[in-house]
Amino acid sequence: MKTACLSLLLITSCWALPFHQTGFLDFMMEDEPGSGTPPPPKEPELPEISGPKCPFRCQCQRRVIQCSDLGLKTIPDDIPEDSSLLDLQNNKITEIKEKDFKNLKGLQTLILVNNKITTIHPKALTPLIKLERLYLSKNFLKEMPANMPKSLHELRIHDNEITKIKKASFQGMSQVIVMELGSNPLKGAGVEAGAFSDLKRVSYIRIADTNITEIPKGLPSSLSELHLDGNKITKVTAESLKGLRNLAKLGLSYNEISTVENGSLTNVPHLRELHLDNNALTAVPPGLPEHKYIQVVYLHANKIAVVGTGDFCPPGYNTKKAMYSGISLFSNPVPYWEVQPITFRCVFDRSAIQLGNYRKK
Ligand SMILES: *[C@@H]1O[C@H](CO)[C@@H](O)[C@H](O)[C@H]1NC(C)=O
Ligand SMILES: *[C@@H]1O[C@H](CO)[C@@H](O)[C@H](O)[C@H]1NC(C)=O
Repeated sequence: MKTACLSLLLITSCWALPFHQTGFLDFMMEDEPGSGTPPPPKEPELPEISGPKCPFRCQCQRRVIQCSDLGLKTIPDDIPEDSSLLDLQNNKITEIKEKDFKNLKGLQTLILVNNKITTIHPKALTPLIKLERLYLSKNFLKEMPANMPKSLHELRIHDNEITKIKKASFQGMSQVIVMELGSNPLKGAGVEAGAFSDLKRVSYIRIADTNITEIPKGLPSSLSELHLDGNKITKVTAESLKGLRNLAKLGLSYNEISTVENGSLTNVPHLRELHLDNNALTAVPPGLPEHKYIQVVYLHANKIAVVGTGDFCPPGYNTKKAMYSGISLFSNPVPYWEVQPITFRCVFDRSAIQLGNYRKK
């Protein structure tokens, strides 16, 4: 038995060596449990196989490990320890186990998009002390992974089955700049108050196409883009935008917003784009004439029945407020011929205005 094993090994290693068939022994050992393969020989007898290690069928180059589209069901266990990028997208991985990434201390980017992941062990991500980008979109996660690395700059976890974002979900993650959380079945408030408050540097948050009913509370003042399109938000409160002095783009299209509270726009003094199309507004949001930087205001497909001459521009004719580059008002019940031209007296480029008409079907 033992001699048979040894001679088999000698033969295989004889042809394996000249070709530098890396990973061959690993492959053999995988079959070990229960398959009747004899146990591997002890250290000194093991023929040395040269060349860098690389998981079977993956491609490894300059610390970039490409293992996408391979039908993998588990994380390969022989990933080089010095890897900086690990691409495992479009596989069939169902679970991330505690030790799956245990040696990957230098990993900066981990791509797990489009797998079948339902669970991530609470300690699985802890070893990844240098991780900056974690892409988990298109999986079956029911909750936010626990203990995500504090080094993260970017988290994409779009299109999973997460129903709630807890206050502790992003604790201590002060380096995050981009967060994409859309297309998750978040309901009601969906996001616990203060869930984002540790993200002191975050500039982009997207929570589109969930079913949240309000703007998340306690957003960080560093935020420059907030995309909340395709939700069930019913109103914009001044409180929800308080302190967002860097906010430049606010996306709220395709919600159920009927009111924008007075004072909301004052709280976002550097806003440039406001997308409120496809909502249930009955009036133009207050505060536009006083606002200094607003350029784009999309209000089409609402229920606005009246547009006043003071809705967009400051009083008088000598005000230099030439910032508007896009105003849309079509598909509202207001007849366009009833909107007086002086309404847009501060808009120098008339092609920026899309009034259109409203036709009842
Ligand atoms: C939002 O709710 C609707 C039903 O009103 C449902 O069809 C849809 O799947 C929900 N969206 C998400 C992302 O859960
Ligand atoms: C909004 O608030 C401003 C300042 O507090 C006030 O002058 C204005 O009349 C208010 N507008 C409405 C519609 O309540």
